[in-house]
Amino acid sequence: MTAQPILEIEDVGKTFKRRDKTEVVALRDINLDVPKGAFVSIVGASGSGKSTLLRIIDGLIESDSGRVKVNGKVVTKPGRDRAVVFQHDSLLPWKTVIQNVAYGLTLAGVKWKDAAKTAQGFIDLAGLSGFETHFPHQLSGGMRQRVNVARGLAVDPDILLLDEPFAALDAQTREIMQTELLRIWRQSGKTVILITHQIDEAVFLSDEVVVFSARPGTVRERIAIPLARPRDLDIKRSQDFVQLVDRIWKLIEEEVRASAAS
Ligand SMILES: Nc1ncnc2c1ncn2[C@@H]1O[C@H](COP(=O)(O)OP(=O)(O)OP(=O)(O)O)[C@@H](O)[C@H]1O
Ligand SMILES: [Mg+2]
Repeated sequence: MTAQPILEIEDVGKTFKRRDKTEVVALRDINLDVPKGAFVSIVGASGSGKSTLLRIIDGLIESDSGRVKVNGKVVTKPGRDRAVVFQHDSLLPWKTVIQNVAYGLTLAGVKWKDAAKTAQGFIDLAGLSGFETHFPHQLSGGMRQRVNVARGLAVDPDILLLDEPFAALDAQTREIMQTELLRIWRQSGKTVILITHQIDEAVFLSDEVVVFSARPGTVRERIAIPLARPRDLDIKRSQDFVQLVDRIWKLIEEEVRASAAS
């Protein structure tokens, strides 16, 4: 018997109405199951509905059709079983690192002493020990993103939703963040859904890469990544890795061309 997936996306569709009353079909018939503890990435052309799907999973917006289930329960609003990290860090500038990481817990009514203790654990896990009392402006971009991820983890979600979390970082910092994220994922045992435009990032991190078609977003192909774990950056030079990146790139290239031509 296979275990119930932690995340079930069933026939999800979403159409937005523009101000001029025209409609944009952002998502159509999305079906996806994610097993507990998996690392799944979503790649696809710009405007293919990836962020929309993440917002629907989080419960920030409603789908028009279909449903999303987490642990078998239909999602209707945001909940503590899910946490999102967006592309641009959304840290509170007037709060310190530890206050930012503990923020979700204090909002949920956890006493400061307990919240701070939990936050400290995730600060350590994110490699930020010693920076607890720093303010966001005193940190590098990579450190701020790690605070962001730590803040997402601190509320102990079952599923961590990451929307291009490293897009603002330079190439070297980004590679370091990828290995950090793998380490945190391994140690925390969370289920991760990552949106990225960087195909090598998706392949490096994931158990499965979901390729979206251009708008309206549909699941074009699901590609299993059978590379052994634990992985380090050297794997990016292996032939298997390069072939997987190439295969996914070709799928997306066709979509980008098709959408540019339409
Ligand atoms: N609130 C909204 N109102 C109207 N249209 C929207 C809204 N949010 C998204 N859209 C439209 O839905 C489509 C999908 O947007 P979405 O942000 O999900 O794409 P994406 O795949 O995340 O793109 P990118 O890779 O550029 O981040 C786009 O055409 C976008 O303009
Ligand atoms: Mg997006």
